[in-house]
Amino acid sequence: MDIAEYRRHAHRLVDWMADYLETVESRPVRSGVEPGEIEARLAAAPPDEGEPFERIFADFERDLLPGVTHWQHPSFYAYFPANSSPPSVLAEMLTATLGVNCMLWQTSPAGTELETRVLDWLRQMIGLPEGFSGVIQDTASSATLCAILAARERATGFAANRRGVSGEDRLRLYTSAEAHSSVEKAVRIAGLGSESLRAIPIGEDGGMCCGELAAAIEGDAAAGAIPILVVATVGTTGASGFDRLDRIGEICRRHGVMLHVDAAWAGTAAIVPEHRGLLDGVEHADSVVVNPHKWMMVNFDCSAHFVRDAAEYVRTFEIAPEYLRTTEHGRVIDYRDWGIALGRRFRALKLWFVIRSYGVEGLRAIVRRHVALAGELAAAIDAEEDFELVVAPRLALLCFRYRPSGVDDAAALDELNERLLRALNDGGRLYLTQTRVAGAYVIRFCVGQTTTERRHVDAAWAAIREVARGLSR
Ligand SMILES: Cc1ncc(COP(=O)(O)O)c(C=O)c1O
Repeated sequence: MDIAEYRRHAHRLVDWMADYLETVESRPVRSGVEPGEIEARLAAAPPDEGEPFERIFADFERDLLPGVTHWQHPSFYAYFPANSSPPSVLAEMLTATLGVNCMLWQTSPAGTELETRVLDWLRQMIGLPEGFSGVIQDTASSATLCAILAARERATGFAANRRGVSGEDRLRLYTSAEAHSSVEKAVRIAGLGSESLRAIPIGEDGGMCCGELAAAIEGDAAAGAIPILVVATVGTTGASGFDRLDRIGEICRRHGVMLHVDAAWAGTAAIVPEHRGLLDGVEHADSVVVNPHKWMMVNFDCSAHFVRDAAEYVRTFEIAPEYLRTTEHGRVIDYRDWGIALGRRFRALKLWFVIRSYGVEGLRAIVRRHVALAGELAAAIDAEEDFELVVAPRLALLCFRYRPSGVDDAAALDELNERLLRALNDGGRLYLTQTRVAGAYVIRFCVGQTTTERRHVDAAWAAIREVARGLSR
């Protein structure tokens, strides 16, 4: 493709992209294809000769789009959002065009220095104290893995990096029973083994029981184990529980244990002054992760990872072969030494575009709208006889179930709600996911798409009632 052709196709694609965003609402939210259906449409072998762009794009529309679940649909209420916005997409276009690898300061000074600056903006926006330095990781999973590796190295005096961890089975980590699965995955990858991770029960409020945490740490230490890290969650994935960072931080300090805070979704809400309290006590943390790619209108991927002791991270991750040495080394930040991957995309650009385009107030207004919509929906569910609000909204996530009179058996209720969820998602009007709360199957409803308005939530609630009441019992 020469540059003249590139220009022509690019203009056409930008129009397609704008049309897509304008009309995404008319598409079914969740793809309805069967497993294998898309692959069967694709050529089994690569083409020997190049193909015209028109044909490639026509195939994209015909063969691939039916297999796309539309995360930017205003009626996407599943999982946590991965919302996006026009300024973010425009920045991604520039990032792809520049095609730089921000692994070292020298390989793109602007990439590194913008990352430093824009993460300090974000630090201020969410109210983290000075002294935290930021780096962009691809995902919260990577950030949590880095935090666990840093804790492992601190605890072993950096010996695990040299000798490995086989034979070292005394290290212990703690997280709530509702923590994201990425915590256990990271513990496994770090070579510590799932059995070194204690799942602390949650209390009524969905947060980790601090008394149980303290008792577990004390019991382990008394038995000769070495407690190294607590991973606290602010906004659990299932039902948005909040661990009390102030109390957990105090326990960590008392026992010399590190604290990593997973605020992947809810951290964005801390830009809103009335929600800042959810990070009370964050000053005790050694590291914090917040995903702008979940709720801050920055398209996937962009995970902000704040660390107290960057030097400790560098010591954990740095390996310096000759081919990666630069003359500025030591005077500048080389972000490759703050995480797993060497290669790094220019992700700071989209965060900068988004923060500047909306302004902090503009972003706050969107978060406030989402939280308010979840609150209104909760009131509507609560007022309906045959529905139960199982978890009142914490921020913009709530859990409910259909509970018509006459169905009281726990298994029957679970089965009814599973059928309800399937029917709703198959219908394509909205997309929801499930979790369990105290053993019961419940439907999660998370408001968080950039374009979601009251009319969408009202329509979703109408669809839920209509489909529920049409189910056979
Ligand atoms: C609380 C929490 N932590 C971590 C993650 C993992 O996020 P990522 O996909 O960025 O690794 C999620 C994903 O939803 C989450 O809800």
